[in-house]
Parts: sequence; C-alpha cells; structure tokens
Amino acid sequence: MKLFVDTGDIEEVRRAAAWGILDGVTTNPTLIAKAGKGFKETVLAICEAVPGGDISAEVVATDYDTMLKEATEIASWHPQIVVKVPLIEPGIRLVSTLADRGIRTNVTLVFSVGQALMAAKAGATYISNFVGRVDDLADDGMAAVGDTVDMVNTYGFASEVLVASVRHPLHVTQAIQVGAHVSTMPFKIMEMLFKHPLTDIGLKRFLDDWNAAGLKIG
Ligand code: G3P
Repeated sequence: MKLFVDTGDIEEVRRAAAWGILDGVTTNPTLIAKAGKGFKETVLAICEAVPGGDISAEVVATDYDTMLKEATEIASWHPQIVVKVPLIEPGIRLVSTLADRGIRTNVTLVFSVGQALMAAKAGATYISNFVGRVDDLADDGMAAVGDTVDMVNTYGFASEVLVASVRHPLHVTQAIQVGAHVSTMPFKIMEMLFKHPLTDIGLKRFLDDWNAAGLKIG
C-alpha cells in the first residue's frame, strides 16, 4: 500500500519524508489555505521534499473550460504533480481530456461506487474515496471503498483506490483489509501508526535489563 500524507504544511511533509516511507502528498484547497503560503510555492516545495512522489494539487474552478486552464497550468509546474479534480460532471469530462493528454489525475470527493465507476472509466489515476466524512454521519465510510476496490479489480481498471478523509489508525487498518491501493492521512495519524504501548514497555524492559547487566556494544 502507498502512504501519502494529507497536508499543505511543508514541515510535516519533510518530517514524514525523512522516515523514508512516504510515497506522496495530497493537498486540497482547505489545506493550502491553512498552510498560509502561495499555492504554487507550496506545491513546488512539497515536490522538492518528496523526490519522485506523487503530489496532488487541486483545481478550484467548477466549469470545464476554466478547470482545463487551471489543470494545464498546475500540471506544467512539475512532473510529479497529479491534478486533483472534484467528482462533478465537468470534472469527469476534464479527467477524460487530461488522460488523453497523459496528465495524471486524482478524482476527489468520491463517496459511492457509482461515482468511482465514472472516475475509473474517465481514466483517473487515483480515486479518492472519503471515509471520515461518511462516518461522521453515522454511516460506514469504508463500505464504498471495499466496493470500489472490488469494482476496479473485477473490471481491470487502471485506477488506484485512495482512501481519504482518514481520521484514525483504524481507518488505515480497514483500508488494508479491503485492499485499497493508497491511504492518505494527516501527519498526526501517520505518527500514530508507529505507536503501541507494548512496544514502549518491551523496549524499556530490554534496555533496563541490558543496562543492569553493564553490557556494551563492541
Ligand atoms: O484531501 C481530502 C481529505 O483527506 C479530507 O479529509 O478530514 O477534511 O475529511 P477531511
């Protein structure tokens, strides 16, 4: 499974990249606004911090012609950029156009397998299925992810299913269980993936025993 960090904060990107496990970064207009710097400047700094990683940067127009202009501009900034496109009718048309031009896309705001089918058929590189926002409504956000993974595998679509709107480590576990290709998550959730209380207890015991015996390496 690929791991992406979902942030516009360059320091968080650098910290995750330093672990050597980061495959890419997803941003959205909210995260870029929160980062407090220019869009292009932020996206280019992220590309530089994750060499070879896939970096999603989103269009903000909602009509086809303006979306196409924005997508063409954003894609021209750096070869690592994946253009993020909302799942609306002009967005699907845009994804088809960009696929024909060899520009990679991440279709966002996907909540159902029917929407995911449209994205897959249009040639989306990634299909971002949101889970947390559905769970917030007391529904099962991961159900649509499982259906989409089955759909992609059954029909042999090239799209990768990306689990977005991840709120806790259990979402990552569930994403693995349904065979999703990618999970994107806030930096603090990625940090939590390291944690287990038995790891801390076990390490303390190893080191206490070692030190009590007065041992040394070499
Ligand atoms: O970038 C898309 C996504 O991961 C948003 O997450 O927490 O705002 O629902 P959230």
